This record gives sequence, C-alpha cells and structure tokens, in this order.
Amino acid sequence: MPVTGRTQLLVSMIGFIAVLGVSRTGAQQSTASLSPAALAEIAQVEAAVDGIEEATLARLANPPDNQVQQVELLGKLMLYDKNLSVNRNEACAFCHMPETGFTGPVSELNRTTGSYPGSVRTRFSQRKPQSHAYAPLSPVLHYNPGQGDLVGGNFWDMRATGRRLGNPAAEQAEGPPTNPVEMGLPDLACAVYRASQRPYRALFERVWGAQAFAIAWPVNVETVCNVPGPAPTADPMPVHLSEVDRGRAVATFDQMAQSIAGYESSAEVTSFTSKYDAVLAGKTQFTAQEQQGYDLFRGKAQCNSCHRDGGPGEDPLFTDFTASNIGTPANPVLPFYAEGQRDAQGYVANPAGASFVDLGVGNFLDSGHQLSHPSAVDARWLPLVPGNKGRFQVPTLRNVDKRPYPGFIKAYGHNGYFKSLKSIVHFYNTRDTLPRCQANDPGEGTTCWPAPESTDNINTKRVGRLGLSEAEEDALVAFMQTLTDGFTSRGVQ
Ligand code: HEC
Ligand code: HEC
Repeated sequence: MPVTGRTQLLVSMIGFIAVLGVSRTGAQQSTASLSPAALAEIAQVEAAVDGIEEATLARLANPPDNQVQQVELLGKLMLYDKNLSVNRNEACAFCHMPETGFTGPVSELNRTTGSYPGSVRTRFSQRKPQSHAYAPLSPVLHYNPGQGDLVGGNFWDMRATGRRLGNPAAEQAEGPPTNPVEMGLPDLACAVYRASQRPYRALFERVWGAQAFAIAWPVNVETVCNVPGPAPTADPMPVHLSEVDRGRAVATFDQMAQSIAGYESSAEVTSFTSKYDAVLAGKTQFTAQEQQGYDLFRGKAQCNSCHRDGGPGEDPLFTDFTASNIGTPANPVLPFYAEGQRDAQGYVANPAGASFVDLGVGNFLDSGHQLSHPSAVDARWLPLVPGNKGRFQVPTLRNVDKRPYPGFIKAYGHNGYFKSLKSIVHFYNTRDTLPRCQANDPGEGTTCWPAPESTDNINTKRVGRLGLSEAEEDALVAFMQTLTDGFTSRGVQ
C-alpha cells in the first residue's frame, strides 16, 4: 500500500476508535458502540442472512431423499439461523458469508476493528473470523513426532481438536453458541431448545431420531435462555434438566454441530472451483504473472512450506495444518483491549485488558485463558506449551481474495492487522529488513513494521527477508487471486 493510503487508513482508524469510545488504556466500562457506517453494513448483512434462511426454509417443503443432502440442508438452516444466538440477532453466517469466502462480510469492520461484535453488540472477540470453507478437511488434532509438531484441529489456536467427535469442524461449531462474545447463549441446552422451536425440527428428527428433542424443558426455559451468558459460576447449567435429558441435550447439540460441519464440507461451500483448480485440471492456463507468482510461492518465497499446495493424492488446501508465529504485529484497535471492565451484564471478556497478548496455540494447551472450549485439552500435551506460545494455525489461502466488489476491504491474520494481500506479502518480504516504526509512523507497513505481538517461537527461517522485488510481490498477490472459488461452475454437487 502506498504511504499515503496507509496514513489515511491510520487516521480513519483513530477516528473510528473515537467513535467506539474506548481506548487501549482502559475505559471505566466497555462501552464499545458501532459507527454509523458499520451499522448500515451490518443491517444489510442481517437482511442477507435472513433472506438465505428464508429461501432455505422453503426447501423444507420438498426435502431431498438422500440422507447426506438432508444433513447438509439441516446444517445450512442452522448456520443461517439467528435464533441460535441469545438476542436472536446473530447467525453463524453473520461472521461467515459466501461473498467473502465465508469470512467476515462487513468491510467497515474489516477496515477498522478486524473482529466482529457478538449477539451482545458491545462485546467483540479478539480474533478475525476465519473461513469456514475447507475447515472440515482439517485432520483431528494430533502430535506428529517426526515433524515435532501438532497438526490439525480448527480455530486459530487449534482448540477445536475433533478428538471427542472425530471431527474438528463439528467441535468448532459447538464453540460459538455459548461463547459470551459471539452468540452468547448461557447454556448449550438453549441452542437445542431454540432449534426445537424451528421449522426444521421435523427434518432433524427424521435424520437424527425422534429422541432428539424429547426433552422435558423447565417452564422457565425461555426466560433463562434470553439472558446472555456466561452462566453464573454457582449455576453453570442454568437450564435445569434431569440427568437423562441433559445427556440427550448434549447428544442433540453434537448432532446439530455435525450437521453444520456436513454443510461446511458440502460442494456448495468447499467447492474446489477456483481458477487454480481449473489450471490443475488442464482446463485453462495461468497468465504469465500468475505463473510467476506460483513459481515464487513454491520457490524463492517459500510460502508453500506452510501453505502447502498438496502432494500426490492430497487436496491442495494451502495449509499443512501446523501452526507458526510469523510475527504478526498486535492490532491496537481491537475493541477487545478495552473489554477489561465489567460490561452492562457484569461480564469481563478480557481480564488482561490493555496488556492482553494472544499466545494462540500455547494458550489453548495451557487452558488458562477465557475462550470457550469446545474440546478438552489432552493433559499429555502440557509439555508442548512453551514451544507453541505465539503460534497460530496456518490458514488456508483458498478464497483469500474473494470479495463482493473490488473496494471491499478484508482483514488478514489472527487479529486482522493486515488489510490487503499486498501488505501481508510485503511483511513476509521485509519483516526483518525494515526498521521498527516510531509512534504514529507514517511509513508503517511500507518502510517500517511495528514489533510482533509476541516474539515467542517466531519463525526466522522462512519468513522476514525474502529479497522480493515489487513486481514479485505483485505476482504473489496475482497468484493468490487465482484461489477464488466460482471460476468454474460445480459439476457433480
Ligand atoms: C461473532 C462472529 C462469529 C460468529 C457468530 C461465528 N463465528 Fe466462526 N469464527 C469467528 C472467529 C473470530 C473465528 C476464529 C476464532 C478463534 O480462533 O478463536 C471463527 C472460526 C470459525 C471456524 C474455524 C475455521 C478453521 O479453519 O479452523 C469455523 C469452522 C467457524 N468459525 C464456523 C462457525 C459456525 C459454524 C458458527 C455458528 C455455530 C460460527 N462460526 C459463528 C467468528 C464468528
Ligand atoms: C512459517 C510458515 C509460513 C510461511 C512460510 C508463510 N506463511 Fe502465510 N501464514 C502463516 C501463519 C501461521 C499465518 C497466520 C498468522 C497470524 O495469524 O498471525 C499466515 C497467514 C497468511 C495470510 C493471511 C490469511 C488470512 O486468512 O488471514 C496470507 C494471505 C498468507 N499467510 C500468505 C502467505 C504468503 C504469500 C507466503 C509466502 C510469501 C506465506 N504466507 C508464507 C504461516 C506461514
């Protein structure tokens, strides 16, 4: 990005923070509120989510016969269902829409906060939404002694391991509904109760069995489920159920999550329809610049060593499902830094406040952090904590440039620090050759870089001084633009 562009970006970010009414050094209370521009876009996204849900509900009149497609249909209905959030205003899709490759659909948030508000709109999480496409193809998290590395799982910190259900994406889908900074329900049983009230109940019972919602709900279930979580420590499961009904609710919640993962892995979402796939299939050719970018990706720039493009018999997913610390700077405008005080409901999202450092996989293994935990930690992995601090899972690069219109801004990295592909490529190229920025340095991102969020386990072998020319940086961007799905139409669904 040219210096002037970057400066404008910084200036508008500072303006945005003023709108938010929060600062990194601590407001008395988390008072984050959304700017008018963000609110306008959010309203559009909410309407689009409702539209997709409505169109999908219409398919219930004539449901598919095949069980795989029934599961996919159920998954889609739940992924676009805002009723699965405490205030009935936030579906999963709110943070994962098709037009951006199933990541954050609000340009104004991507440009500023990088993270998204939850169902309680004053609560923001600390991370940028990942794409949910291709996520179900991640292996169950395991330790590979040959590589000396953890491999697999979902989430930036791999904490949806998949070891309970044999499916990381299903365990992932169990995180957001009760995550206080996301969909905010006080009890997983609330998600099951809310689903039982929806028109897809009958199809759900057809697929998963008549027992699914045969639960004796307490009379106060509506009231209890309308109160944002987390539940009080003294009453961690506020929907009071018999032991058998509790077990049933847990099993049904698992099946909801498995249905969602089924939809995420369907050909509608994980579609392998990019130009890159067409080139592999011999149906089209790269331009000279794209080819140059691909050669650099696999050669001089070494991107391929982490964003692996597959070997024989392997899908090219542009990740090897390990984790690294590439030295991403902190994103000082994350509203999360100001969530160190009790909010209106008495919840403290970020007890560390302004001194919060996201240590990624190391924090998950250590389990001493505030995130909702869809999967238990394997106690045998505790010795891996120090070697995983500061590391984040290598994201897929599929759809990394997918956007609804050219001026739409996407955020990149776990905290959304980067705002363009060009800027992250420039970072890989020059992290270790450019000086540290001074305070408010107008050269930030072009002639200097801020310090990494964490220097723990930082990768210095393959990242930081690539010696690429400007034209080579552009070629890498052009190559990544060939990874956008929808270049070819789907064949067999
Ligand atoms: C408020 C925004 C928000 C909502 C709502 C939300 N997500 Fe996400 N999603 C995120 C963020 C942020 C991450 C990364 C979180 C992390 O690493 O801690 C993420 C990560 C994921 C991933 C992991 C992808 C990978 O490669 O590991 C999947 C899959 C996913 N979300 C699906 C869902 C589903 C399914 C739902 C609903 C049940 C949902 N999301 C609701 C923001 C959201
Ligand atoms: C040592 C492993 C490694 C190498 C080499 C590497 N990456 Fe990454 N890449 C990562 C990790 C880990 C992240 C997430 C970093 C974070 O969130 O802090 C990432 C993030 C990204 C993102 C952001 C994606 C998103 O959805 O937010 C892009 C784009 C990207 N890398 C492109 C490249 C390119 C291009 C190259 C080669 C110039 C490259 N990477 C080399 C590990 C690597």
